[in-house]
Amino acid sequence: MQILVLHGPNLNLLGTREPQVYGATTLEQINAGLADQAAARGAALTAFQSNHEGVLIDRVHAARTDGTQFVIINPGAFTHTSVALRDAFAGVALPFIEVHLSNVHRREPFRHHSYFSDLAEGVIVGLGAAGYRLALDAALDRLGAPAA
Ligand code: DQA
Repeated sequence: MQILVLHGPNLNLLGTREPQVYGATTLEQINAGLADQAAARGAALTAFQSNHEGVLIDRVHAARTDGTQFVIINPGAFTHTSVALRDAFAGVALPFIEVHLSNVHRREPFRHHSYFSDLAEGVIVGLGAAGYRLALDAALDRLGAPAA
């Protein structure tokens, strides 16, 4: 069982970036916790972050043939802007869950629309790093992974 976790722009700064909005946990800590969580249920997890739209698109394309069965993505600001990254998900037809650390719905109006949510299996917002853990458990349930 193989899960891909994708992190969009600026998420490499987690831990120091607006901690009152995004929390104090670093991306490395989030990824390490998710890898352990996946391993405990017999699955492999790969995490990838980029600040570049085309690089993320290429990674989604690669996921079509590299054994990835489910994607968890926080597209960062591309959530609200990227038709191209949305089209990549439509193109590869891999199931995915969209995660946002902050509750985008109680922030600026430009964060209220997502180009991904209508394609996603599910969307988790506002729960901080716990949102990734919940998304991973849901993905592993969908793939039929045994309980930890
Ligand atoms: C975010 C919310 C986006 O609006 C923002 O641009 C981000 C992070 C979140 O996780 O809350 O970079 O996706």
